[in-house]
Amino acid sequence: MLRQPGMQHEFIVNSNGFSSKLCSSPDVTYKVVLKGVTSTMEKDILNGITGSVDPGEVLALMGPSGSGKTTLLSILGGRVREPTPGGSITYNDQPYSKFLKSRIGFVTQDDVLFPHLTVKETLTYAALLRLPRTLTKEEKEKRAMDVIYELGLERCQDTMIGGSFVRGVSGGERKRVCIGNEIIVNPSLLFLDEPTSGLDSTTALRIIDTLHDIAEAGKTVITTIHQPSSRLFLKFNKLILLGRGSLLYFGQASEAMVYFSSIGCTPLIAMNPAEFMLDLANGNVTDISVPSELEDKVQMDHSERDKKRKACSSSGARVSCGGL
Ligand SMILES: Nc1ncnc2c1ncn2[C@@H]1O[C@H](COP(=O)(O)OP(=O)(O)OP(=O)(O)O)[C@@H](O)[C@H]1O
Ligand SMILES: [Mg+2]
Repeated sequence: MLRQPGMQHEFIVNSNGFSSKLCSSPDVTYKVVLKGVTSTMEKDILNGITGSVDPGEVLALMGPSGSGKTTLLSILGGRVREPTPGGSITYNDQPYSKFLKSRIGFVTQDDVLFPHLTVKETLTYAALLRLPRTLTKEEKEKRAMDVIYELGLERCQDTMIGGSFVRGVSGGERKRVCIGNEIIVNPSLLFLDEPTSGLDSTTALRIIDTLHDIAEAGKTVITTIHQPSSRLFLKFNKLILLGRGSLLYFGQASEAMVYFSSIGCTPLIAMNPAEFMLDLANGNVTDISVPSELEDKVQMDHSERDKKRKACSSSGARVSCGGL
């Protein structure tokens, strides 16, 4: 399903186990009011975002730094109440509710874990504190162990988490503990903010494989992602590409390159599709004839375009966008 920017579409997030559907009609928008000493101005953070995701799917939110990934993820996860985002967001036709809150897991970019607890203690305490009272202590402890095996953390279960002053688990293991902290309550919707940032491509791939396993168990997974490798990129079912808070692409991740080549944007050399799209969203194109509908959405100002034009005349083009 190819979604061309600027068109009105429904954004639907479906999830198993409860009634949920995320829908934006009109599209999701988000503005903040910036109060200065002398003046007050409005700033558009997100503009016209649409899309859909179903149980069993992993949706990736991609875009340059400052393009609005975390803001969109927070809005979809029901974490932004003030100022109220525009557009409508529904989960299986229902608006956000308190009941839904208990079905959502949200892994933030900056994790907060106790450095002196071991992996097993961290997840056991999470289970004891967050699972319902109807379960016995033994059942909760068993759930913590199940999560440890599910995330492949058995080898480091007795290692301390660690921090600035105490050596502890590796970065990848730490991320998996954070994911464990959320999946322990078996959420239907799992949101993650940059779960692979700072990790090598093999560890990142392992985390995305874990997310896939979670999705295959009938959950809906939405994650922001930063510079994925091409192998990792192809693992996503759906993709939202943001540029300056606007939608550049929504659809199947595997069809994104076909869409961009259909509007005249193709890399001149074989390159990682994610790298190509981030270059495009950053305005890092050596041919300035970006399709008019994308021009306002890529993060390139006019002075930069002029510089690029000059640089382009003397060096070879890396990405070519044009022909429309
Ligand atoms: N409450 C706010 N007030 C003012 N500006 C804001 C607010 N929230 C977000 N922004 C701005 O909105 C833009 C998008 O922020 P956001 O954190 O969503 O970006 P991002 O795509 O997650 O970036 P990164 O990859 O660096 O994490 C940024 O320019 C940020 O400064
Ligand atoms: Mg962010």
